[in-house]
Amino acid sequence: MAIDGEPSNPSPTSENPLTLGTPKALLPQSCILVIFGAAGDLSWRKLLPAVYNVNVDGLLPSNFAVVGFGVGSEGEPDEWIRARARDGIEHFSRQKLDENHWSDFARGLFYVEGKFDDPGAYERLKTKLEEVDAQFGIPGSRIFYMSIPPQLIEVSVNNLKNSGMVMPPEEKKSYTRIICEKPIGRDLASARGINEMVAKVFDESQTYRIDHYLGKETVQNLLVLRFANSIFEPLWNCNYIDHVQITVAEEEGLSQYDSSGKMKASRIGYFEGIGNLRDMVQNHLLQVLCMTAMEPPWSLEPDVVRDAKSVVLRCLRPLDAEDIDASVVRAEYTSGEINGRPVPEYKQEVGDFFHKQNRAVPDPITTETFVAMKVYVDNWRWAGVPFYLRTGKRMPKRSSEVAVQFKEVPNVLFNHHPDVPLEPTVLSLKIQPDEGLSLRISSKLPGPKLRIYPVKMDFNYGTSFGGTTPEAYERLILDVMAGDPTLFMRRDAVEAAWEYVMPILNHWEKGHDRVIPTYQAGTWGPEEADRLIEADGRHWRAL
Ligand code: BG6
Repeated sequence: MAIDGEPSNPSPTSENPLTLGTPKALLPQSCILVIFGAAGDLSWRKLLPAVYNVNVDGLLPSNFAVVGFGVGSEGEPDEWIRARARDGIEHFSRQKLDENHWSDFARGLFYVEGKFDDPGAYERLKTKLEEVDAQFGIPGSRIFYMSIPPQLIEVSVNNLKNSGMVMPPEEKKSYTRIICEKPIGRDLASARGINEMVAKVFDESQTYRIDHYLGKETVQNLLVLRFANSIFEPLWNCNYIDHVQITVAEEEGLSQYDSSGKMKASRIGYFEGIGNLRDMVQNHLLQVLCMTAMEPPWSLEPDVVRDAKSVVLRCLRPLDAEDIDASVVRAEYTSGEINGRPVPEYKQEVGDFFHKQNRAVPDPITTETFVAMKVYVDNWRWAGVPFYLRTGKRMPKRSSEVAVQFKEVPNVLFNHHPDVPLEPTVLSLKIQPDEGLSLRISSKLPGPKLRIYPVKMDFNYGTSFGGTTPEAYERLILDVMAGDPTLFMRRDAVEAAWEYVMPILNHWEKGHDRVIPTYQAGTWGPEEADRLIEADGRHWRAL
């Protein structure tokens, strides 16, 4: 279904479960999606396949096009980006490449080669955008997707402004919006710097800070589960919940090697010196925590939902040096095996990457690829309930979930024997893969004897709804086109999350540690992480 939308004429959509049936539900509006850094990894793996999938699903307006911008093309730029997109779709798309859709999609793909600091390149970009407008009947609306390192944002937004490509938010005929990819800065000061500088050119209402975890179906479903069912919310507090575990486990490391042991792709250039606290906890895990712990918003208006999430960040109990030593664990992977394949240690990946670039290898290498921590949300609802967060790379498998463990029943009747305690009730929301949720409860085993066994009530998206679950980027790009910022991070939330993690980063930096704990690749993390939770008489869930 092709939708011919104008910004002034929003109509309801059935695509957004959070805004379903509300006056705020909007349709994606015609525009050119301009991807800065379109030659990069994110664009190849995620963005171009995401746009292809929403095109196949008929969710895009017919007057829509994508223009890539940056360096790195070879040969004729439009043909180059089409080939690159095709390759990305063949490798990573949720839906298989279909030749009929492909030709329709490819004719709306263009590329402008140019450096981000070259004003001349922006003039060429502007001319190209105007040509594409004319070809596709686009009213001059633009979404600038900044898929570039944070240090290039300033020069890019200034050049956009100087070349007259940024329309004010009051403009009625067309819209201009910017998407900022994470990381927004590498600490609080640089995040504030980026936010301030973007704010000089774009109004907050035009600014969409992406945290793609918020676009994942199960993360969105947290709100639906909590506020569209009557049974969960009455129990969703410290009276009934013992603790919550949020795990994001990744199988991938930071580099990929071919069968001859040669490095073929690496994210070390970005990751070394950054680490999982900045890369995963500051954004993805804290955002998932907010969705789990927030109070019911009084409406589904984007800012009402975002206010409720921000309150959670403000309630996080600040950590001092002693707390950090006791309740935050970081570690780095050593070599190991995953799925029967040997994988190298993180230090070797760093060495290989820097040698390849003829750069001095950092010394010491203490960038954490794993973090586990205990967090408290100090408000009435969550008083005394620990939230255990854990995220690591090169874990045995890709598996992410939010698990809510309820308090034990009293030690009488079926739970009176100290040697055979009942398994606690756990509600687990599977973020990926196999999105769904499952409730573990105790049940009587059939037979004359009274034997109790934990059983699971499972709901799986795939089997219940059929088809494949849309990728987060699909949903988020459509939301920006629709002007719906609900699932994007507001400036105050980004800064509040940085405020929370800064004492940890500062404490680690002050320690000048030359070594940090390690865990073998292909395991669930270091012993220190087990000790962290076991000290409280609890265990990490086996995933
Ligand atoms: C990104 C991080 O934001 O999220 C990566 O920078 C990480 O390091 C990725 O691998 C994980 O995303 P997903 O959707 O694959 O879980």
